[in-house]
Amino acid sequence: MSVVQVRPDIYWIGVNDRTTDLFEGLWPIDREGVSYNAYLVRDEKTALIDLAKAFKADEFLGQIAQVCDLGAIDYVVINHIEPDHSGLLSLFRRLAPQATILGTEKTKELLEAFYGGAESVRVVQDGETLSLGRHTLQFFSTPFVHWPETMMTYDQGEKVLFSCDAFGGYGALRGAIFDDQCVDMGFYEREALRYYVNIIAKFSGPVLRAIKKLQPVPVEIIAPSHGLIWRKNPQRIVELYAQWARYATEPAEPGVTLLYGSMYGNTEKMMNAVAQGISREDIAIEVFDVARTHFSYILPSLWTKSGVMMGAPTYEVGLFPPMAHVLDIAARKRVMNKKAAWFGSYGWSGGAQKELTDLITPLKWDLVETLEFRGGPTAEDLKAAEEFGARFARALK
Ligand code: FEO
Repeated sequence: MSVVQVRPDIYWIGVNDRTTDLFEGLWPIDREGVSYNAYLVRDEKTALIDLAKAFKADEFLGQIAQVCDLGAIDYVVINHIEPDHSGLLSLFRRLAPQATILGTEKTKELLEAFYGGAESVRVVQDGETLSLGRHTLQFFSTPFVHWPETMMTYDQGEKVLFSCDAFGGYGALRGAIFDDQCVDMGFYEREALRYYVNIIAKFSGPVLRAIKKLQPVPVEIIAPSHGLIWRKNPQRIVELYAQWARYATEPAEPGVTLLYGSMYGNTEKMMNAVAQGISREDIAIEVFDVARTHFSYILPSLWTKSGVMMGAPTYEVGLFPPMAHVLDIAARKRVMNKKAAWFGSYGWSGGAQKELTDLITPLKWDLVETLEFRGGPTAEDLKAAEEFGARFARALK
């Protein structure tokens, strides 16, 4: 994609990534892609704000070349040292050795660890300003959004906030880079939620603190390092992030995430009956086969819904492993304070429920009811399952 002017002298020089299958080596983006947004502020002094992942070197340098020579860059602002934004740093330092690197004290430490040699780093303090000529940049420390060194950069005159990971999302840019040009906001908002829960959610407290800290700052454009630039309605993405962050400690939306796994279809039959019962109560429900759905896509539902219905058989005197795996990930991401229920089949011994209880207890999930059946479900079992689902849904209202 060509360079796009965001405001006078401010250019988006980002790149799309449609070839990485797993973001952070973990989260699928093979269908959605991601963008690494970076920006150039061209003035008496020129500042480059963030870089991109290392393998995007040719494309990224081509973007810069559309605006200026590498030799004209005076500063490189490193808002965040994670290599999706800093991977090009070693190459850039060789090609533009005159540029001063700007970051927090912690950035300097982590830069040394990741790339070696921090002598060209100038540490900026929280609230410090830097005049480029017509433009003045201000730096705000926002630790743990996403790593401890993270900061945001604000153009005071143009009221643009370069927020890096914060307010970002998965989803390569499809030509349009601004929210007001985008005809499928649903895609970007969905992918912002998936990104939030996959990457940022564990740091929801720091997200709320950063939003509060920046509240007095008049922002007209939010320019994150992933996904759309928000210039028509920057408040929208701030509100979404604040809402998702609050779910870390406050009740989520009434609704059910129905997780199930089934070896030979018996638990699946029960799942369908349970889903019928839940749906009868007119409450939102999302259904995931835990053996076939990557947890990246399950987490957003778990995060935003107040109830979790789980159906899984006993497997070798324990819980069906794909269900245990999803619950382990939920624990790592601190998906807390849900109402929960469990159903599942067993052959000659139980065991699933004990393991499940052990997994969800640290998450403070309230296991309100369980329903276990032997072998295949009878007509009575299916009827009981429908009532079981309906009772659970009513408990969430
Ligand atoms: Fe987009 Fe935390 O890196």
